[in-house]
Amino acid sequence: MNKKESKPIYVTSPSLPPLEEFITYLEQIWESKWITNDGDFHQEFEKKLADFLGVKYISLFANGTLALITALQELKITGEVITTPYSFVASTHALWWNGIKPVFADIEPKYCTIDPQRIEAAITAKTTAIVPVHVYGNPCNVEKIQEIADTYGLKVIYDAAPAFGVEINRNSVLNYGDLSVLSFHETKTFNTIEGGAIICHDEKTKKRIDFLKNFGFADETVVVAPGINAKMNELQSAYGLLQLKTFNEQIAKRKIIDDTYRELLKDVEGINFLNKNERVKYNYSYFPIFVNQEKYGMSRDDLYNKLKEHNIYSRRYYYPLISNFSAYKGLDSAKSDNLPIANRISDQVICLPIYPDIESNAIKRVIDLIS
Ligand SMILES: Cc1ncc(COP(=O)(O)O)c(C=O)c1O
Repeated sequence: MNKKESKPIYVTSPSLPPLEEFITYLEQIWESKWITNDGDFHQEFEKKLADFLGVKYISLFANGTLALITALQELKITGEVITTPYSFVASTHALWWNGIKPVFADIEPKYCTIDPQRIEAAITAKTTAIVPVHVYGNPCNVEKIQEIADTYGLKVIYDAAPAFGVEINRNSVLNYGDLSVLSFHETKTFNTIEGGAIICHDEKTKKRIDFLKNFGFADETVVVAPGINAKMNELQSAYGLLQLKTFNEQIAKRKIIDDTYRELLKDVEGINFLNKNERVKYNYSYFPIFVNQEKYGMSRDDLYNKLKEHNIYSRRYYYPLISNFSAYKGLDSAKSDNLPIANRISDQVICLPIYPDIESNAIKRVIDLIS
């Protein structure tokens, strides 16, 4: 089938709550005229979300990037921070917005997450924190990272943007580190259109984060710090409450798609994918494959373009590496000989379409073109 004959298939497609139920909530908001600033829906969503995820405290945000920037502010992080180049740019941009120098450490090929040994090797007298990323929702080596942080006296802020609902040993991955940050952008497994959150472990920290996301206001006349405006509004909070009802069902559907890709691509020479870790409950947010050009007989980009010609819009997450963007490529740690694994994987990866309501015919089209 050529491009003109086929329906476009995108890498993801957002799940939306039932419109009638959302309208009922909207009517309540219209009635109350309380549309932002810690309204009833915001309070209820924070509470239900914390229960749902199995974490202690959540502060809702307008998006994940502002949540990351605020998390760094909350812990007063300065100097140098060790992070991964294999992520969405916002992980490093959040450091830049805080005047922090990013120091890139290479990744482990098995899960595409930051390599703890490389973190340790990158520590200097100026290092104050680590910002690892649960790439594709795959948990980082959280135990080892905590051990390093404890030994060197560093803070850990996880960019957990894609890790909604992920658990290790039946414990939320968000319970690790000093703070974790989620994104609820429409491309994520759980969306509030735009949105995000900081997860913390004690009430005092939550209170301070809540001040920071509201310009630093502690009350009408006291501003405790140069905070920002990063609040989630009532409409998104109400929308998010409805999304919680269907999340588990959506993950079950994603698992079937993940299983199907694994089964039908397992014998294709030169196409590899990540192994699963038995200790982890996944959210199946992405399905990355890695193209070994020699064995597959075609380059990653040729395969990517072939899919595109057939109206299949996969994405090369994460290519280019953050360390190769103009803002960061001048840093010593951005040099490719410091990041050989991240560079190799970034040149091989393609994320295939995966979303709960993808049609089986669409998966067949993707698989037929690859195999
Ligand atoms: C790893 C990672 N970090 C940060 C972000 C930024 O989140 P947001 O788009 O909600 O600002 C995203 C998603 O967009 C992401 O995937």
